[in-house]
Formats: sequence, structure tokens, C-alpha cells
Amino acid sequence: MIDVMTACRSILLLMVAGFLLCAQEKVRSVWDGIYSEAQATQGETTYREACASCHGSKLNGSGNIPPLAGRDFTSSWNGMSVGDLFEKMQSSMPADKPGQLSKEQNAGILAYILQMNKFPAGGAPMPTDVEALNAIRITAAK
Ligand code: HEC
Repeated sequence: MIDVMTACRSILLLMVAGFLLCAQEKVRSVWDGIYSEAQATQGETTYREACASCHGSKLNGSGNIPPLAGRDFTSSWNGMSVGDLFEKMQSSMPADKPGQLSKEQNAGILAYILQMNKFPAGGAPMPTDVEALNAIRITAAK
């Protein structure tokens, strides 16, 4: 008959192993297809109306207006979350009328920005709640 201590120890070991496995689970990133093609297409239209006048039709920026695509952009957001970028857009863009766009519109624009930065599309549209977006990392290199 196994004694209680041995049983307890085994259970504890299993729990620790389980925890370690969970902690190792890969963090989702912008490389995992986190937006849909259709969402990006919708976002492009909104981008043209609300953002292109400043950030440029190729997302290249100009003067003191930063680019939203390319190496400078992805490296400055490297290690941040998609939620951080989303909140920046929600709270301060478009710079001339901040906060006028809905979460759905901003998610669409964000999908378009990701597409222009060559991050792959996936099957499902990007969620619009910050909580979920905070769990997705922006990593410049795969
Ligand atoms: C009137 C000009 C103007 C418009 C319109 C505008 N922006 Fe900006 N945007 C700026 C300026 C200036 C900055 C730099 C200052 C700052 O970060 O707040 C900026 C910064 C940003 C940044 C941060 C970039 C970085 O790497 O730090 C993002 C993201 C952004 N804009 C997205 C948008 C989106 C999306 C739209 C359209 C909904 C938009 N902007 C419309 C002028 C504008």
C-alpha cells in the first residue's frame, strides 16, 4: 500500500510539471495569422479616409509624422503588444480628431497595417477587445 506522503509527493510533482508545460506554451505573435484578409481590405478604406492624409498612402509617413510600415516602425514596436498599438490608435489617432473611430474601425486599420508590414493573414478577424490584443506580441523578426 502506498503511504499518503508518497501519494502527495507524486501529485505535487505532477502539478509542477503541468505548470511548467503551460508556462512554456508559445506566446501568440503577429506571425500567427491574427487578422483576416477581408478585415484588412475594410481597414484599407478607413485608413485612406482617416490616416493617409498624414501617414501617406504607402504608410511611409513624412517629416515629423512617423511611418506605420517598414523596419523603423516594426523595430520601434518590437516586444510591445498588439493591444499597446491598438490603444495608441484608439486614444490619440487620427491626431486631428482623436477617438472618433470605433473599435471595429481601428481593428480594421490595424489589420491593414499588419498586412502592409508583411505579417500573414489568418482565417479569423482580429478581436476588438484590448484584453485579447494584449496577449499578442509584436515581434519584428519571426
Ligand atoms: C493630422 C495628422 C495625423 C492623422 C490624420 C493621423 N495621424 Fe497618426 N500620427 C501623427 C503624428 C504627428 C504622430 C506622432 C506623434 C504621436 O505619436 O502621437 C502619429 C503617430 C501615430 C502612431 C504611432 C507611431 C509610432 O511608431 O510611434 C500610430 C500607430 C498612428 N499615428 C496611427 C494613426 C492611424 C491609425 C490614423 C488614422 C486613424 C492616424 N494615425 C491618423 C499624425 C497623424
